[in-house]
Amino acid sequence: MKTIGVLTSGGDAPGMNAAIRAVVRTAIYNDMKVFGIRRGYNGLIYGDLREMNIASVGDIIHRGGTILHTDRSDEFKTPEGMKKAKNIIEVFGIEGIVVLGGDGTFRGALDLSRMGVPTIGIPCTIDNDINCTDYTIGFDTATNTVVDAINKIRDTVTSHQRANVIEVMGRGRGDIALYAGVAGGAEHIIMPEVPFDINDLCKRLIQGRDRGKRSHIVLLAESMFDVNELCQEIEEKTGIETRATVLGHIQRGGSPTVADRILASRMGYHAVKLLKEGIGNRLVCIRNNKITDCDIEEGLAMQKEFDQELYEISKVLSI
Ligand code: F6P
Repeated sequence: MKTIGVLTSGGDAPGMNAAIRAVVRTAIYNDMKVFGIRRGYNGLIYGDLREMNIASVGDIIHRGGTILHTDRSDEFKTPEGMKKAKNIIEVFGIEGIVVLGGDGTFRGALDLSRMGVPTIGIPCTIDNDINCTDYTIGFDTATNTVVDAINKIRDTVTSHQRANVIEVMGRGRGDIALYAGVAGGAEHIIMPEVPFDINDLCKRLIQGRDRGKRSHIVLLAESMFDVNELCQEIEEKTGIETRATVLGHIQRGGSPTVADRILASRMGYHAVKLLKEGIGNRLVCIRNNKITDCDIEEGLAMQKEFDQELYEISKVLSI
């Protein structure tokens, strides 16, 4: 394979730039030409791409966001959109593509593979909701951002002896809430994987206050409850003044952590190695700290076991 393309699609994640850098530099090191495709699959449809060189990815390893920009393309899902994309791929002589994103992105990768274009997916999403891999690029940075916010919120919560419910992202997955909750010492974690009992939460908060606790941090995974209504209910049931914080897109930005930069570098390198060997239709994963890969369709169908032990640890340590 002599010419490849790289694109980022779906929600951006810190570490995407480090992965783009790894793809471009590994390809050039192996005498391959690389096209940077902009705005996700839309760039393939509209021919928005340019050849990249070693310098195009200089000074980006530490930057959040994606220099290739991103989009969620509905047009690519139509037969006409896919035909246009295939045409651009042929016009530019692209023989393989690396796509960076989450599960929506990988459904596009599957379509490309079925059209006969060898495609490799690299999991980049703050949600850590790609089941074939232990970790996705961006999750560690987002979790650190949440922990940083917890530390700051705790200062004011302690000063006032209040509770604060912090809503975090996760798109139906509680990993950000769970990891940040354990690392930030949250008093309670509300996440989709665990049934929620408001009375259990309130009892724990009251017991904590009666033992002299001055701060109560509750982490709430998004889309479960209205955070303001939940705060009101907690306040009514416990008598503890309760405020809400919605962290929002701050979780998607910022300089990637060392862990995300290393993961991105390893995965980008691995993706190009696969294409160089003429292998496509794979998702790059990390399992037990080893970089590996799996069939895209199989990877998308996999289930991941919920980390019940970590949740138990969070409960034990937050008494
Ligand atoms: O998938 C990443 C994510 O940030 C989710 O956590 C969140 O639900 C969603 O994207 C937000 O999407 P948007 O940026 O379109 O508002």
